[in-house]
Amino acid sequence: SASPHRVAVFGAGYVGLVTGACLAELGHDVVVRDVLRERIDALRHGEVPIYEPGLGELLARNAERLRFTTDVGEAIGDADFVYIAVGTPPTYSGDADLSAVWTVVDELPRIERRCVVVMKSTVPVGTGTRVRHRLDERGLGHVGYASNPEFTAEGTAVRDFMHPDRIVVGAFRDEDGDLVQELHAGIDAPVVRCDVASAEMIKLAANAALMTRISFINEIANVCEATGADVVRVAEGIGLDRRIGSAFLRAGIGFGGSCFPKDSLALKQLAANSGYHFQLLNAVIEVNELQKRRVIGKLHSHLGPLRGKTVALLGLAFKPHTDDMREAPSIVLAGRLLAEGADVRAWDPVADGGDLHGAVIVATPEEALDGADAAVIVTEWPQLADIDWAAVASTMRNPLVIDGRNMLDPEPLRSLGFVYEGIGRAAGAGGGV
Ligand code: UDX
Repeated sequence: SASPHRVAVFGAGYVGLVTGACLAELGHDVVVRDVLRERIDALRHGEVPIYEPGLGELLARNAERLRFTTDVGEAIGDADFVYIAVGTPPTYSGDADLSAVWTVVDELPRIERRCVVVMKSTVPVGTGTRVRHRLDERGLGHVGYASNPEFTAEGTAVRDFMHPDRIVVGAFRDEDGDLVQELHAGIDAPVVRCDVASAEMIKLAANAALMTRISFINEIANVCEATGADVVRVAEGIGLDRRIGSAFLRAGIGFGGSCFPKDSLALKQLAANSGYHFQLLNAVIEVNELQKRRVIGKLHSHLGPLRGKTVALLGLAFKPHTDDMREAPSIVLAGRLLAEGADVRAWDPVADGGDLHGAVIVATPEEALDGADAAVIVTEWPQLADIDWAAVASTMRNPLVIDGRNMLDPEPLRSLGFVYEGIGRAAGAGGGV
């Protein structure tokens, strides 16, 4: 495994904490720095400010190799690596807002020794070159720079970091790339060494490829719906083709989260800024927007106007096993339903639903379903597979289930008298379409 290095991680958000904890697990000494004093205080007291399976245990197990601070000087200390893991949210135009990145670059103190600045935040292609110039201007020409994008998904971030499909290291100088690669000794994965721009693009292109698959299968689902095929079977049938593969072929109500929507806009803008109209990516984004609205159309087709109707939204987070509501389809759905005069009763096991202004947040799925005219499964939490639908049949005002994630078996529900509709699934006997 690796010889221990000293690593400063700027940003105690999702990416920074996972990176810091995992580098400590590899044996390195890590200082995580953030401007948010409450967050740093909480971390010092052993509290984990985000919901991520395994992260708390990892932080606790490596407590002696992990420190938290708001102080730049303390963080830099005699670090060999300075990771930048700050947020890069979209601006109004969709371009990534790099102000937090520039703040870190500009507040780096005079560093005499050899060290490497490593970009973990997702940034537009070309950012590394601009950071390189800024470091040179500031008399930090001897400080290395590398791009080391992250591919971790929420809910599996620790496992994804420790057992990645690949590690990508882009550098201007081979020595810098060698050092970053050495920092990861102990992780068994192929390493892609490349230039900085390519590493930056790998991150954006990987996300775009995954989003393209989702919008593709969602459009196949929409055609299945119109023609009587079942997209669940279709995805299984095409996924076994090794050239296609089975991952990311779950049709549903569209992707959300902190990465995909933001990074798709960032890549679209990056292309547009260089004069290129990225047609396919534009379509992927548009299909995703339309997909969220199709659920409303399904409700209309069964219930007519929604004024005065009660709709239960089951699952609110953008995906299961996270409390993350960023760009969650539930926000768009609830907003539309409320605007049309429906009553919305919403449930999620961890997300607090505070973003759903006007919805009634309840503690159990059964409570949400009590008196409802329709159940809409928005997020495929496993708890929803355990609902006693026979009991629910008598408490709902109208037995309609719109399964936005195709997680339930239609036939048992239909035999209980429910009208079941998934996304792109054949209506079948007893179906209401
Ligand atoms: C994603 C990428 O997977 C990760 O590599 C990157 O670093 C950050 O963005 P994450 O946002 O945590 O990770 O979630 P992911 O599990 O990839 O799901 C993203 C969205 O796509 C979710 O809303 C999910 O519901 C949706 N999705 C995913 C589908 O609709 N169908 C699928 O088949 C897969």
